[in-house]
Amino acid sequence: MILVTGGLGFIGSHTVVELQQQGHEVLIVDDLSNASLSVLDGITAITKSRPKFLQLDLKDKCGVAQMFSKYPEIKGIIHFAASKAVGESMEKPLQYYENNIVPLINLLYELGKKEKSCLIFSSSCTVYGQAMEMPITEEAPVQKALSPYGNTKQMGEDIITDFAKVSTMDAILLRYFNPIGAHETAYIGELPNGVPQNLIPYITQTAVGKRKELSVFGQDYQTPDGTCIRDYIHVVDLAKAHVKALERLLLKKNIEKVECFNIGTGKGTSVLEIIKTFEKTTGVVLNYKIVERREGDVMEAYASTTKANKMLGWKAELSLEEALNSAWMWEKSLNK
Ligand code: UFG
Repeated sequence: MILVTGGLGFIGSHTVVELQQQGHEVLIVDDLSNASLSVLDGITAITKSRPKFLQLDLKDKCGVAQMFSKYPEIKGIIHFAASKAVGESMEKPLQYYENNIVPLINLLYELGKKEKSCLIFSSSCTVYGQAMEMPITEEAPVQKALSPYGNTKQMGEDIITDFAKVSTMDAILLRYFNPIGAHETAYIGELPNGVPQNLIPYITQTAVGKRKELSVFGQDYQTPDGTCIRDYIHVVDLAKAHVKALERLLLKKNIEKVECFNIGTGKGTSVLEIIKTFEKTTGVVLNYKIVERREGDVMEAYASTTKANKMLGWKAELSLEEALNSAWMWEKSLNK
């Protein structure tokens, strides 16, 4: 049995689908603080099999211990559960440190009691800050985080690495670039809380008429069209990377106790290119304006995918057009 924390969230729910489709039994734990139970129905509609679900706040150490006693067959964890809004983390630093660190420690204590265990951790390309060289390899230095959110990802990586040294647990840190899109069935997708902070949900909400206008944050960067460049990866491809990483650990194919992989497409796309591609793929004209830069944005980030290709045997397969189209189908399904 694989424990998926935050399994009703955006990336978690897509990963549960891929796990089930590869024959893994899944237990989802989620506190529903930023997810809806209806996602369980979406997953079930796709896989025709309802995953086990437990509503639990992972900050509750006793609750976590009880869960592990009840399900001794848990052999691996994919840990998504975390708060994830960069801006909010600046306003509520303590909440972010508590939500993103305490659950991890509670889970590690339980893994430490097992004869053998493994963990996949949701990290982020944010650990690299503005990297000096593109594409970004896993060897690029980790830079001081610009937000408490980013800091919790770096701290999480360090905590896992330190614990792996003194336990039988093996781990893989997946550093995601920009996850976008939705399942092709449009049964699951991203459910942003309030006004979206990320580009793609803002675009789809503008296209559907929920928002008046998209703001493009800055056109004076030193990039070909002046807007920021990111590596946008389809969430289904990202979900598949988790299954590969998990199987690498379960089959003991890992070379080091803790390994890290960049998970992106290897291709950089600017904000204006995203807008153009969205318009072309969906036929919807977007209302947008150029505004000031957003504080904390790096100019450019895209992944070197060589290590993940070679060692995980994984590469992104879906196109940007497919990702944007699936996000649009999902948005329309929400507004039916
Ligand atoms: N953008 C806009 N308008 C918007 C929203 C975003 O122009 O309304 C631009 C941003 O300036 C950026 C690009 O679109 O250039 C992508 O922005 P997102 O907010 O979608 O994604 P980020 O690259 O900022 O976020 C990613 C991860 C976070 C991580 C962060 C830190 O999603 O988890 O990088 O750098 F913390």
